[in-house]
Amino acid sequence: MEKVRMGVIGIGGMGEHHCRSFNDLSRIELAAVCDIDPARRKYAQEQFGVPGFEDYRDILEGDLCDAVLIATPHYFHPPMTIDAFRAGKHVLCEKPVGVYTLQAEEANREHEKYPHLVYALMFQMRAAGINRKVKELIDSGEIGRLTRVLWINTDWYRTQAYYDSGGWRATWAGEGGGVLLNQSPHSIDLLQWLAGMPHKVRAFCQLGKSHDIEVEDDVTAYLEWENGATGVFLTSTCEAPGTGQQEIIGTRGKLVIAGGKITFSRNRTPMDEFIIESTGRFDPPESWTIEIPPSRGNGIHQDITQNFVNAILDKEPLIAPGEDGIHSLALANAMILSSLKDKWVEIPFDGREYKALLDDLCERSTYRKIVREVTPEDMNASFH
Ligand SMILES: NC(=O)c1ccc[n+]([C@@H]2O[C@H](COP(=O)([O-])OP(=O)(O)OC[C@H]3O[C@@H](n4cnc5c(N)ncnc54)[C@H](O)[C@@H]3O)[C@@H](O)[C@H]2O)c1
Repeated sequence: MEKVRMGVIGIGGMGEHHCRSFNDLSRIELAAVCDIDPARRKYAQEQFGVPGFEDYRDILEGDLCDAVLIATPHYFHPPMTIDAFRAGKHVLCEKPVGVYTLQAEEANREHEKYPHLVYALMFQMRAAGINRKVKELIDSGEIGRLTRVLWINTDWYRTQAYYDSGGWRATWAGEGGGVLLNQSPHSIDLLQWLAGMPHKVRAFCQLGKSHDIEVEDDVTAYLEWENGATGVFLTSTCEAPGTGQQEIIGTRGKLVIAGGKITFSRNRTPMDEFIIESTGRFDPPESWTIEIPPSRGNGIHQDITQNFVNAILDKEPLIAPGEDGIHSLALANAMILSSLKDKWVEIPFDGREYKALLDDLCERSTYRKIVREVTPEDMNASFH
């Protein structure tokens, strides 16, 4: 194979953007599009001059495509991924990997049966130079043993007009959550990619705090890691001015990521040694502060798409393997479960308990169509 022929499923805002972006990439061509909305389908066919399908199963049939990019609402990601594997197609799936962990586990299990197929996720922020540099610093031991994470992403401001634009967004039945499922999956993925998975969560999600919506638009979560490290994660679509800042602290120093810069304050003696050995009573260890230049790369969608193509053609390692998606999803689900059940949640938790909670929320959802039990018929029924 010299070129990867891509089918794009879901030609909304993201799907259209991906179709256009293929022109900037090498060894990829758009082969077909699919959307249940006839207007979107017609528009895409005219724009890109490729065949269009209403039923995603038709794009999977035959030899038209080698791979699919799934850019539909989240509930559909896992069942479409599974069907694509069964049809022998590589899968690049939009974030989040799904809405609840049982779905993501199913997709991961199915991929195990088709190890020759590439399965990747659109977590483009992993490709950003600043995040790659922070990962390199943590993984190489520069900050020592992790002790604390302060993760603030309250800069996802959205107005009521955004939510009133309607459709599947910001409903339990259509989207399966609010800021944790829509805006924050990138942040949550980065948090666990950089700092590792917390093993305990206690969260407070405010449902419709400042918007007339049924899902969470403001979240405060306390996190604990197995080694005793602790953290706080804050996200919101109703804070202005919002903040985008992270502090990752270890025994050897502190990384502050803010305003596109990484600032590293390095302890001359690791904190945990100094605290025992110092004869002084108050002074912390001497520390030096420097600015660390980020690695190259902006972290754009094309980085992930090109990496996916290179993985298929050259076996290049994936930046964001599909299997990783369950981690950020588990954290998001754990925050909602903790808040709505008013309790601590240990990770891994019983995915069936979360599904039962979600089912209950969906029963009361304002969204007119319940799509959580996704069947092919659901997927092809009118969605908007
Ligand atoms: N990686 C990123 O930075 C990023 C940014 C925005 C959105 N996204 C993700 O992309 C996905 C789509 O978001 P969007 O903003 O493009 O939404 P959108 O509503 O603009 O587009 C979704 C499209 O999917 C179509 N669709 C729905 N059900 C379908 C089905 N069963 N078969 C075929 N088509 C179907 C709809 O008709 C619509 O055209 C979401 O999962 C979202 O989280 C990712």
